[in-house]
Amino acid sequence: MPHTESDKTKYNNQPDPMIITGGMGVHISCWQMVRIVSMMGGLGVVSGTALEIVYPRILQNGDPGGHVRRAFNELARRQPALAEPLGRLIEKYYIEGGKAADAPFKTVPFAKLSRIEGHTGLDSFWESSRELQALTLAANFAEVWLAKEGHDGLVGINFLRKVERPLPYSLYGAILAGVDYVLVGAGSPPELPGMIDLLSRHQTASLPFKVHGARSDSGEFYVTVRPETLVGSNAGVLKRPKFLAIVASFGLARVLASNPKSRPYGFVVEGPQAGGHNAPPAKMRFDDHGRQIVEYTEQDRADISAIAGLGLPFWLAGSYAGAEHLREALAKGATGVQIGTAAALSGQSGMEPELRARVARMAARNELVVMDTMVSPTGFPFKVAQIPGTVSDKAVYASRRRVCDMCLLQANYITPDGALGYRCPAEPVDAFTAKGGRVQNTVGRACLCNGLLATAGLAQIRADGYVEPPIVTLGDDFQTAKELLTLLPPGQETYSIGKLLFFLRKGVQA
Ligand SMILES: Cc1cc2nc3c(=O)[nH]c(=O)nc-3n(C[C@H](O)[C@H](O)[C@H](O)COP(=O)(O)O)c2cc1C
Repeated sequence: MPHTESDKTKYNNQPDPMIITGGMGVHISCWQMVRIVSMMGGLGVVSGTALEIVYPRILQNGDPGGHVRRAFNELARRQPALAEPLGRLIEKYYIEGGKAADAPFKTVPFAKLSRIEGHTGLDSFWESSRELQALTLAANFAEVWLAKEGHDGLVGINFLRKVERPLPYSLYGAILAGVDYVLVGAGSPPELPGMIDLLSRHQTASLPFKVHGARSDSGEFYVTVRPETLVGSNAGVLKRPKFLAIVASFGLARVLASNPKSRPYGFVVEGPQAGGHNAPPAKMRFDDHGRQIVEYTEQDRADISAIAGLGLPFWLAGSYAGAEHLREALAKGATGVQIGTAAALSGQSGMEPELRARVARMAARNELVVMDTMVSPTGFPFKVAQIPGTVSDKAVYASRRRVCDMCLLQANYITPDGALGYRCPAEPVDAFTAKGGRVQNTVGRACLCNGLLATAGLAQIRADGYVEPPIVTLGDDFQTAKELLTLLPPGQETYSIGKLLFFLRKGVQA
């Protein structure tokens, strides 16, 4: 079921790029790196995950270069209705010259939802506080706008379907900035094409969210963005971005493609070697203590020729960062490849520079081990690089106090008095079980929100001086990173993202 003539018109027949640098959270695919990829003819994808926490922290660090305030001003210029809330956000978070190095970051009030009144019927519609809506929208606008500034290359944004409460506001912010592609993984995303259609016209859009313990007759729960309440009417014409669903199997690709409402523009087909979250293996195994072991087999590889048979554009991801792999992908009918690990280790990624240099040294010396773990509160397998001093280190894991204060991976549930509650398997075990969570779901889980912000150099500092440790995710394959690292002149610790793109295109006509 290839795209129809009317689909093609909707997508402007704009040619697709061959190389995508995947969205890597939190803030690893930052706008600085993505902008270079886009200027070099690739599709640079920023990560939209947790930007509503990243941006206030950058402001509290003194907003070096003034980029956040510049982007917020641009948004206020384009959408005057947002000028006042944006001014309040800058007042609340910006600290000239940056906060004291040992001072904690001000926390962002978490995404508690309120019910939107006035709807009849079983379904219920919910929204974040006005302040959080404006912050989420502005942070995503800014990240895309900064990546697109000063050139006409293509920029995409990546969201995790599992991080659902901020998603509608993040998506609208990215569309307001003219994002070219939206990529969504970590969960089946059938509602995204419809939401993109609506938001590109400033119309109300809703994303269903799962609520544990909800009665079967209580209808669907939706988190809703109402553009008119944010930007007013007459907000101007917007471009409709292309939607790429990130899938790990032909089954999901076929289901999404078979319905015109859920059909994406194309797919990123991610294999189990990719960094970050991955789809669970077809067969889950358990150790003697009942803990899940993640082991992938040939069965877990998507059927690429079947996906090619769907007739939609697709890119291959997970160990495809090499000219040879790129040729192989093209030969299989792919438009190109999406890469992650080699970009995360490049000098322009958002990984904290000293940590990145340490990881790169370990990779170059063949000392780097990446494991499939069940550390993520989502319950999805998550790749973790084994690095001393990070959460992967047993002593660090054991000494870290469990806390949930950013709340992005919480599950929703119905409290005994019928209200909407939130719980995370990485929070203190007593708190989680008191909310009806099962104790076995807490074993081995860690707070990815705090860990990944620390990896991006934005670690929270607790009142007693404790600094949240980082957690590093990478894919299984760092061969290309290794090759580029060994080519470096003495004294240089990283290669540039530009060098990586040249390397990938070697031998392939771009
Ligand atoms: C540090 C890191 C973070 C990642 N975060 C995300 C993410 O937030 N969302 C997502 O869809 N994929 C994420 N990925 C996957 C990449 O976008 C990409 O598809 C994958 O890493 C490609 O495989 P490769 O690492 O072998 O090149 C991440 C990968 C890495 C290495």
